[in-house]
Amino acid sequence: MIEEPPVEKRADTSPEVHKLIRARWSPRSFSDRPVSDGDLKLIFEAARWAASSGNEQPWRFIVARKSDPQLFEKMLGVLLPGNQKWAKSAPVLLLTVAKRDTKEGKPNRHAWHDTGAALAHIFLQATALGLHAHGMAGFDPERARTALKIPEGYDPVAAVAIGYLDSPDKLDEPYRERERTPRTRKPLSEITFNGTWDTPLEL
Ligand SMILES: Cc1cc2nc3c(=O)[nH]c(=O)nc-3n(C[C@H](O)[C@H](O)[C@H](O)COP(=O)(O)O)c2cc1C
Repeated sequence: MIEEPPVEKRADTSPEVHKLIRARWSPRSFSDRPVSDGDLKLIFEAARWAASSGNEQPWRFIVARKSDPQLFEKMLGVLLPGNQKWAKSAPVLLLTVAKRDTKEGKPNRHAWHDTGAALAHIFLQATALGLHAHGMAGFDPERARTALKIPEGYDPVAAVAIGYLDSPDKLDEPYRERERTPRTRKPLSEITFNGTWDTPLEL
């Protein structure tokens, strides 16, 4: 079920991490094949079981399926033009939204963090189903609030395209080339510290 990424997109992981993590990447070319409601339900069920500060579960998800063209166009219209160009081919678009305050009415400092954790679950569950998902910061939050009727106290966080992979040849440049560009990461030595910031972690 899990699709091996194309050679250029393989994560150069050493030591080798779980195959779900190795298989996830962010494509821009999606096929017409729809995502079943059963798979969508699994994806959100996975998101529902993410960890969150105080078990606040601040995440909310607004979903637009291509099978409902009016809603799909509305969601697409919230994306910035550069993302619209490729995301229009995905059969499912969604927007993650974070509830700003806790149930006690205090600011939840981890609302966006935990909504991101739920998105990571979405990415991995989608990958497990042979799907691909691509996050987008490139959308207009104010337009999202109005067009998608997001109430006060909730922040739009990230848009996401979900679907089955298609050929890079379907894309125009510069997206076609990006579809073949190797994925890179900072070395572990740059992001891990031993106890304090000034000491590298040696593993
Ligand atoms: C919250 C978030 C916002 C992103 N915003 C965009 C975006 O607006 N447009 C885009 O093409 N890619 C976007 N990306 C995709 C990243 O560029 C991509 O995850 C990163 O380059 C690492 O590549 P990989 O996901 O294939 O490992 C976003 C990803 C995340 C998680």
